[in-house]
Amino acid sequence: MNICGIYSFLPSESISSVDLDALAGATGLAILDREPASLGEGALVLGISDQGLGLHFTGKKTPKPILVDFLGGANAHRRQFGGGKSQLIAKAVGLKSRYRPHILDVTAGLGQDGFVLSTLGCKVTLLERVPVIFELLKDGLSRATQTSDTQLQAIVQRIALVGDNSIEYLHSIDSESDNRPDVIYVDPMFPERQKSAQVKKNMSVFQTLVGNDSDAGDLLALALSRAKYRVVIKRPRKAASIAEQFPDKKLPNAGLVLEGKSSRYDIYPIAKMPEC
Ligand SMILES: C[S@@+](CC[C@H](N)C(=O)[O-])C[C@H]1O[C@@H](n2cnc3c(N)ncnc32)[C@H](O)[C@@H]1O
Repeated sequence: MNICGIYSFLPSESISSVDLDALAGATGLAILDREPASLGEGALVLGISDQGLGLHFTGKKTPKPILVDFLGGANAHRRQFGGGKSQLIAKAVGLKSRYRPHILDVTAGLGQDGFVLSTLGCKVTLLERVPVIFELLKDGLSRATQTSDTQLQAIVQRIALVGDNSIEYLHSIDSESDNRPDVIYVDPMFPERQKSAQVKKNMSVFQTLVGNDSDAGDLLALALSRAKYRVVIKRPRKAASIAEQFPDKKLPNAGLVLEGKSSRYDIYPIAKMPEC
């Protein structure tokens, strides 16, 4: 499913934080001069609405737009009720009572995992290479910074966002430098990850935009040479490890595996993490 173009659902006199021309330049998409409804059933449009920047489906009975919302929805729910430091992801990245690693999330996507890690107190650098997804994230972060919730402000301030291919970014890090990221977090696309209809639809859009991250084996190999303490890979619970998925890359097996209900974290330790 291709994105047909960019459209502003806001009345022309309203001021939007999103600059249409800049967005067109950044994404390579054209600005639509007709209503998305005229595109017929099931088209996809990058739209600016009062909710922010989102991917909108056209037609009747369409799913909600895909956008990044750190103020409400699933992100806010998990922040409040997700279990804090007892979550598996916290254990996977090596959170200690006082120690908070700096995490380089090399597969940012819609930033859900990165946001969780930041709510746990970690500094997080998000890397995303698909321009449309990068723009959704940028918009979500920008809306979240305007909140009056000071805790949320602090969470968002711990997040840095970079639009780049992580393979190139990792190459630019000196493998001997003290400034290497403490933990590199990798969550590449994997076919058929989840099941509900809405999630399926969102994932299939995502999959078309992103593909299958077929260079995830190279990403792991490079991450292992750049992380200070560990690399963590998230997989669907029953999925093959990256080493099994890319046997030609001669990747090591995970040193430790933490299994949850639907996901699993494969941990590749490099050095002992600080105690506090
Ligand atoms: C499964 S999604 C990640 C979901 C994310 N963990 C979350 O919680 O929202 C994978 C994302 O990683 C991005 N990605 C994969 N390989 C990348 C690379 N080499 N550089 C930058 N981004 C990459 C894809 O474009 C996609 O958006």
